[in-house]
Amino acid sequence: MHIQLLLAILAIATFGAASAQEGQACLSSCGNVAITFPFGSGEGCYHSPDFLVTCNQSSGEPFFRESNIVISNMSTSKSEMEVMAPVARDCYNSSGRVRRNRISLTLSDFRISAKNKFVAIGCDTQAYFSARRGINGSSYDTGCISRCGRDSLITNGSCSGIGCCEVAVPQEMRYFTIRLSSYNNHTDITELNPCSYGFFVEEGKFNFSTTNLRDFESIRKMPMLLDWAIGNSTCDIAREDADSFLCKGNSECDPDYSGPGYRCRCQEGYEGNPYVANNCTNINECERGTHDCEDECVDTQGSYECSCQKGYSGDGRKQGTGCTPDQSKLIKIVVGTSAGAILLLISA
Ligand SMILES: *[C@@H]1O[C@H](CO)[C@@H](O)[C@H](O)[C@H]1NC(C)=O
Ligand SMILES: *[C@@H]1O[C@H](CO)[C@@H](O)[C@H](O)[C@H]1NC(C)=O
Ligand SMILES: *[C@@H]1O[C@H](CO)[C@@H](O)[C@H](O)[C@H]1NC(C)=O
Ligand SMILES: *[C@@H]1O[C@H](CO)[C@@H](O)[C@H](O)[C@H]1NC(C)=O
Ligand SMILES: *[C@@H]1O[C@H](CO)[C@@H](O)[C@H](O)[C@H]1NC(C)=O
Ligand SMILES: *[C@@H]1O[C@H](CO)[C@@H](O)[C@H](O)[C@H]1NC(C)=O
Ligand SMILES: *[C@@H]1O[C@H](CO)[C@@H](O)[C@H](O)[C@H]1NC(C)=O
Ligand SMILES: *[C@@H]1O[C@H](CO)[C@@H](O)[C@H](O)[C@H]1NC(C)=O
Ligand SMILES: *[C@@H]1O[C@H](CO)[C@@H](O)[C@H](O)[C@H]1NC(C)=O
Repeated sequence: MHIQLLLAILAIATFGAASAQEGQACLSSCGNVAITFPFGSGEGCYHSPDFLVTCNQSSGEPFFRESNIVISNMSTSKSEMEVMAPVARDCYNSSGRVRRNRISLTLSDFRISAKNKFVAIGCDTQAYFSARRGINGSSYDTGCISRCGRDSLITNGSCSGIGCCEVAVPQEMRYFTIRLSSYNNHTDITELNPCSYGFFVEEGKFNFSTTNLRDFESIRKMPMLLDWAIGNSTCDIAREDADSFLCKGNSECDPDYSGPGYRCRCQEGYEGNPYVANNCTNINECERGTHDCEDECVDTQGSYECSCQKGYSGDGRKQGTGCTPDQSKLIKIVVGTSAGAILLLISA
């Protein structure tokens, strides 16, 4: 069996979506997932066809573009999206292979985040994935091997080649295929482990358990993290077209992101959706308690200031000089204590 999940690239002109987003009724969520610009459901609600979300309102499932891939979360502050990606499997019974699928995904302008791992589960398992940077980009082939038998020391939480193996995912990959095979057709171990599985999963979202060797059959999808950016141009070039440039107001073009495309982020001290004009608003560090003031805190646009009570001086910051009593006050205290000591001496 060969499941090919290809996403047709839609030849649709870019919408002037940021302005159309108001006024029109755009879905703000689908099921449990909040839909935030540049993503959108419905014409005029999304930035470009890559960010189209198709919502099945009765099942509450948002789909990536017009594919059958469910979106489970999206973040505009990190320019990431989490999708439920299919699991590849390769199953055997005592007479040989029963079924196998191969997973191919085309992510359009989205890329697999390096925060994922490629994981394989099985006792007679060779798992490979090949990924490519662009349609004709450089390719990358790698994978891992997992073996075990009845006497193997299979350990919960350990994914080091006995029952489970994993490898890191390279950056910038857009197209990938997962392939599984075995050495011995799972001969003599079909009761212990009838199937091999291979999938990409976000770091921290999967812990191997010995029971997975048998019960993973019911799991068809795993959460995978994708990276995204806007368009193909760098900050400097994109900025020249002021109408279509999305980082507006207290949002800046992220200088730490080197492309392809550009990303917006709220300036330091601001929060909100950096892709919506003027949505980044001031963070009140004083109210939130994220400040570093020893004594008094005064909020300012994008920052805050510290001050000391009367009779104290310093920059007011815990990491700085803090607040120390003024010189005159200090002398009074010193004089006071030494006078007390002399009195004590005399009375003694
Ligand atoms: C939406 O989800 C429901 C319930 O899962 C399903 O019956 C229906 O076919 C789906 N509609 C579309 C258009 O996929
Ligand atoms: C969705 O993503 C945001 C930002 O990365 C994160 O804070 C939040 O916990 C995620 N929600 C779920 C349900 O994973
Ligand atoms: C193995 O699976 C095949 C295909 O499903 C089936 O025809 C065959 O009877 C099975 N063999 C055993 C021993 O269960
Ligand atoms: C990819 O390569 C094929 C054949 O070598 C070529 O026809 C096509 O234009 C290339 N596509 C891109 C996007 O470079
Ligand atoms: C691993 O954890 C599962 C529960 O998740 C438990 O049933 C199983 O016995 C554990 N295996 C070992 C070897 O500790
Ligand atoms: C595995 O099964 C295939 C047919 O399904 C057969 O051609 C191959 O020889 C078998 N390999 C081993 C090592 O048993
Ligand atoms: C995996 O295990 C760690 C540590 O035991 C735990 O903090 C984490 O929540 C677990 N993750 C999942 C998805 O079960
Ligand atoms: C990026 O550039 C390629 C080729 O130049 C083009 O086909 C594609 O549509 C562009 N992507 C976006 C999001 O503009
Ligand atoms: C930012 O956008 C969100 C939804 O996209 C909205 O709820 C919020 O009110 C906006 N904030 C500002 C300051 O515009």
